[in-house]
Amino acid sequence: MKIDILTLFPEMFLGPFNHSIVKRAQDKGHVVINLYNIRDWTSDKHRTVDDYAYGGGAGMVMMVEPVVRCIEDLKSRTDYDEIIYLSPDGELLDQSHSNQLSLNQNLLLLCGHYKGIDERIREHFITREISIGDYVLSGGELAAIVLTDAVIRLIPGVLNDETSALSDSFQDHLLSPPVYSRPADFRGYKVPDVLLSGNDKEIVKWRFEESLKRTQQRRPHLLNPDELQV
Ligand code: ADE
Repeated sequence: MKIDILTLFPEMFLGPFNHSIVKRAQDKGHVVINLYNIRDWTSDKHRTVDDYAYGGGAGMVMMVEPVVRCIEDLKSRTDYDEIIYLSPDGELLDQSHSNQLSLNQNLLLLCGHYKGIDERIREHFITREISIGDYVLSGGELAAIVLTDAVIRLIPGVLNDETSALSDSFQDHLLSPPVYSRPADFRGYKVPDVLLSGNDKEIVKWRFEESLKRTQQRRPHLLNPDELQV
């Protein structure tokens, strides 16, 4: 898979993409991530990417020209499955979107800044708009990092059997059960007996029941998705 990211702040990605699972996925060749600075597609000597909003009001807008030049240039070299704009008013990212996106070959992510991007970019060049939650970030970069991480861990081969995404929370519409490690008794706080019993069947049953209980308590809508009305 290839993920191309358009941003005004490529350095923001270096920490998250150079560690742990995302780093390993790149090293093993499961994913190639390219960072492109939109400023490199400006045509004026000041490398301007933002301007005042027509109609007035506070906040700058990312200009249509450099962003479109950048998208068109990259599109001439790659056939993208989706061109995604990260925005608080996009569809809310969930595990099923991540699963779907992980099946793609080429994704282009556009990170906005300031007051947003010129609407004409959204209308004519973006195929999908995604939000990572109902709160406003300073830009799309952190959202692109979250999306990229959520998608990459689902690419077959990225996780080994032990860390398999199949046991992740949400993967089967359930939250994960509690987990414990050594020691079995820490200051009198004990690990549930069943996990020490060696009885695999009982352990599977206990984990499923705990998942169900946790989901009912914390995310009941996952069990009845039709009831999620806000
Ligand atoms: N840009 C700013 N806030 C965002 C959010 N919540 N999700 C995606 N992109 C954003």
